[in-house]
Amino acid sequence: MLKSISTSCLVTLACCFNLLLHSYAFSGSPSDRTDRLALLAIKSQLHDPLGVTSSWNNSINLCQWTGVTCGHRHQRVTELDLRNQSIGGILSPHVGNLSFLRLIHLADNNFYGNIPQEVGRLSRLESLELANNSFSGKIPTNLSRCSNLVNFSAHGNNLVGEIPADVGYNWMRLEKLSISDNHLTGQLPASIGNLSVLKVINVEENRLSGRIPNTLSQLRNLFYLNIAGNQFSGNVPPSIYNLSSLELLYLRGNRLIGSLPIDIGLTLPKLTNFVIAENNFSGPIPNSFSNTSNLVMLDLNLNLFSGKVPINFSRLQNLSWLLLAGNNLGNGAANDLDFITPLTNCSKLIALGLYGNRFGGVLPHSIANLSTTTVQINMGRNQISGTIPSGIGNLVNLNGFGIDLNQLTGTIPHEIDLSNNFLNDSLPLEVGNLQNLVELDISRNQVSGCFIVVYARRRRFVHKSSVTSPMEQQFPIVSYAELSKATGEFSTSNMIGQGSFGFVYRGILGEGGLLVAVKVLNLTRKGAFKSFVAECEALRNIRHRNLIKIITICSSIDSHGVDFKALVYEYMQNGSLEEWLHHSNDQHDVCDLSLIQRLNIAIDIAYAIEYLHHHCQPPIIHGDLKPSNVLLDHDMVAHVGDFGLAKFLYACQVDDMETHSSSIGIKGTVGYVAPEYGMGSEASMAGDVYSFGILLLEIFIRKRPTDSMFNDGLTIHEFAMKALPQRVIEIVDPLLLLEVRTNNSKNPCGDGRGGIEECLVAVITIGVLCSMESPIDRTLEMRNVVAKLCAAREAFLSVYDLM
Ligand SMILES: *[C@@H]1O[C@H](CO)[C@@H](O)[C@H](O)[C@H]1NC(C)=O
Ligand SMILES: *[C@@H]1O[C@H](CO)[C@@H](O)[C@H](O)[C@H]1NC(C)=O
Ligand SMILES: *[C@@H]1O[C@H](CO)[C@@H](O)[C@H](O)[C@H]1NC(C)=O
Ligand SMILES: *[C@@H]1O[C@H](CO)[C@@H](O)[C@H](O)[C@H]1NC(C)=O
Ligand SMILES: *[C@@H]1O[C@H](CO)[C@@H](O)[C@H](O)[C@H]1NC(C)=O
Ligand SMILES: *[C@@H]1O[C@H](CO)[C@@H](O)[C@H](O)[C@H]1NC(C)=O
Ligand SMILES: *[C@@H]1O[C@H](CO)[C@@H](O)[C@H](O)[C@H]1NC(C)=O
Ligand SMILES: *[C@@H]1O[C@H](CO)[C@@H](O)[C@H](O)[C@H]1NC(C)=O
Ligand SMILES: *[C@@H]1O[C@H](CO)[C@@H](O)[C@H](O)[C@H]1NC(C)=O
Ligand SMILES: *[C@@H]1O[C@H](CO)[C@@H](O)[C@H](O)[C@H]1NC(C)=O
Ligand SMILES: *[C@@H]1O[C@H](CO)[C@@H](O)[C@H](O)[C@H]1NC(C)=O
Ligand SMILES: *[C@@H]1O[C@H](CO)[C@@H](O)[C@H](O)[C@H]1NC(C)=O
Repeated sequence: MLKSISTSCLVTLACCFNLLLHSYAFSGSPSDRTDRLALLAIKSQLHDPLGVTSSWNNSINLCQWTGVTCGHRHQRVTELDLRNQSIGGILSPHVGNLSFLRLIHLADNNFYGNIPQEVGRLSRLESLELANNSFSGKIPTNLSRCSNLVNFSAHGNNLVGEIPADVGYNWMRLEKLSISDNHLTGQLPASIGNLSVLKVINVEENRLSGRIPNTLSQLRNLFYLNIAGNQFSGNVPPSIYNLSSLELLYLRGNRLIGSLPIDIGLTLPKLTNFVIAENNFSGPIPNSFSNTSNLVMLDLNLNLFSGKVPINFSRLQNLSWLLLAGNNLGNGAANDLDFITPLTNCSKLIALGLYGNRFGGVLPHSIANLSTTTVQINMGRNQISGTIPSGIGNLVNLNGFGIDLNQLTGTIPHEIDLSNNFLNDSLPLEVGNLQNLVELDISRNQVSGCFIVVYARRRRFVHKSSVTSPMEQQFPIVSYAELSKATGEFSTSNMIGQGSFGFVYRGILGEGGLLVAVKVLNLTRKGAFKSFVAECEALRNIRHRNLIKIITICSSIDSHGVDFKALVYEYMQNGSLEEWLHHSNDQHDVCDLSLIQRLNIAIDIAYAIEYLHHHCQPPIIHGDLKPSNVLLDHDMVAHVGDFGLAKFLYACQVDDMETHSSSIGIKGTVGYVAPEYGMGSEASMAGDVYSFGILLLEIFIRKRPTDSMFNDGLTIHEFAMKALPQRVIEIVDPLLLLEVRTNNSKNPCGDGRGGIEECLVAVITIGVLCSMESPIDRTLEMRNVVAKLCAAREAFLSVYDLM
């Protein structure tokens, strides 16, 4: 009877029926006791800085616990919704006892560890949302037993292994499969073709390979298929192009070959986004795209398409992105660019990318009649002749117009200073109307009055973090005498820096003459011994190319019989980032780090911290990120060092609590330490994100956060934020702009990516987001940061790669 009384009644009745209530709320029936025990077991594994689960206690009915929903009738837990609550920790296997659960929503938190097999016991489960956490391990095989599952989303985690083929036999109600941005390998199981109500498949950015299974063509409700950024190869099964329900098809960045069926526009009439860039598709572009009237984005960049562009664009009223760069289109013929005139009917056009093809003929003057919404046009590296039409000034929103490396003639008055991409009011002609134009590149034509050489860097980029297997052994020990010898008795001439708790010396160790850096701890300093232990512990089991490596340690007594502790690292030839940014010495007089070098360094640092946060068990907080703790090796690869303030997160899970107890306290360095640490918050990933954000801003603005210009409440963060996005050029290190002038940045893709300014805006934006004052607003995690910085770098480098 009591179960049918609503909970608000219960409160009113509380005084009168205290005894009854007591038995209800505190022990309950056996079934809701099961739920309570399971939830408390889950809570016990969580790190909940916002106190979301503080209401999970025995003095209130579990159906009123935050994030918990019960069924009306049976008062059993049906939903567990803790999305986006900054919660960290492991998902307890006891979740499998909540047998009435229909929804688990834990997205946008910091969960780590495996998805427990026990979730497979939840036969009523319809929605399992785990996106944007750090779940690792495999997708549990037992999950396929959740035969009522409708939504499974686990994108943005660290999942490995294969997609279990079993799911294709059991998840008969599945509508959404979203597992992008993981490290999944193997094939896309053919059995997925059995899931006849599937609407969404997103496996973007994994390491899946093999063929695209032709069984996908059985999925008559599929409207979103995204397999971009994997290693799929071979031909796309022709039947896929028969899936008339498809609206968004992303095949970008695989190893796919073959040609497109000529009737694709008729078999896929609902297409809005067709993105197959960066593959090896070949053959002609089908003219049936003229019939896909909903098309918004057609991205065929970087394939091997050839022939004319036969599409009549006049009916594609929604077309915004037409990206055909880096193919073999056109025949150098007079009518190659005839498709431009119908394109003037596309009133939503944003970008037209034709760079790097074989388009010939005269530049159609109708280009001036393209929609005024157009932001980017790139026709560089073709065989286009004629003149730039004066009407181009109509395109008032254009901010990039590339037509370099063609055969244009005519005159551009010599007053235009084309060595500088930042055109100003003094521009004559209609080009002067282009208020938004930041890039105009007409170099390598026969346009008289100017001739500019475009400096192209061709460097292909291979720059990824590699994680080697953890070292199992303890460090080898070296004696005081050996270290003393190696460093010339710790002579001042060998002193290369000062760590948090002692001096650092250069040394030559042993017979092999190994160049090393030796940090000698000043044990009379408070916290020095603990920092020694912290650093040994932190670096004992981890290895990453962007973390400084301990070669050996010395724990001994010195020549006076006094305790002596030292850490010996690999030597970093190029010193610290601090020196590069702020010191003038004989090695490098001014900061001569180029934009790409700074970007690489920033990405190296981000990889290191991402590794500590998301790939170490338990996660490690660095706690003291700043330029002097970033060291550069002979290849200018950055290595993050000084783990003297490093801490293990969730230290209670580590066996030896003594060594990593929180008594080290969070000190950090003024200017870089997260504001919340000053208010007594515990070490957190968000704290490192803050320091990284400041560091990132410092690298590109080249001002210390403690610079005298930052006063009266103006921080480097605010200074950068106020400049976004229009004035970024004004606040960054002026030396970077010299590079803008000499490199004459261009944008071959014409797709809004690439270019130096875009790159700087992207980087400063990331720096600002990372250094938000309140940890709640600091929503980026290091893995997002890595991804965003890499994207900025890729966009920037794609400018040069195509050349
Ligand atoms: C979950 O159920 C199992 C098996 O019925 C039981 O052994 C375990 O104690 C339960 N866990 C909790 C937290 O009640
Ligand atoms: C239980 O949770 C309620 C609601 O959050 C809170 O007011 C109360 O103080 C908590 N009780 C205990 C013992 O933590
Ligand atoms: C998470 O919560 C924060 C703060 O409440 C909010 O700004 C952010 O947009 C949320 N993120 C997502 C993905 O919902
Ligand atoms: C996984 O499923 C198997 C049956 O397929 C079952 O025997 C096993 O107990 C399940 N494991 C867990 C942890 O629920
Ligand atoms: C599945 O997710 C979609 C949104 O992606 C949502 O609209 C729908 O309600 C979810 N279904 C269930 C059963 O949770
Ligand atoms: C996960 O992260 C992505 C990218 O940052 C964001 O768009 C999305 O809203 C986040 N949350 C979910 C539930 O997808
Ligand atoms: C599921 O798909 C596999 C492979 O495509 C097929 O062999 C099998 O018969 C299908 N099973 C069901 C139940 O549809
Ligand atoms: C596509 O569908 C049509 C009509 O349903 C059919 O005749 C044709 O064989 C299909 N093509 C492929 C490759 O499946
Ligand atoms: C395209 O083919 C070339 C030549 O075989 C090969 O080198 C390249 O890696 C291929 N690219 C892709 C994206 O498959
Ligand atoms: C495709 O479009 C062309 C004109 O662009 C039109 O003549 C033809 O009838 C259309 N075909 C279909 C099947 O709609
Ligand atoms: C393109 O299509 C439009 C109408 O859909 C038609 O008027 C025009 O003649 C076509 N152009 C060409 C070159 O076929
Ligand atoms: C070691 O630290 C103490 C206390 O901070 C200081 O007085 C002393 O000068 C330091 N010794 C050296 C060699 O730096």
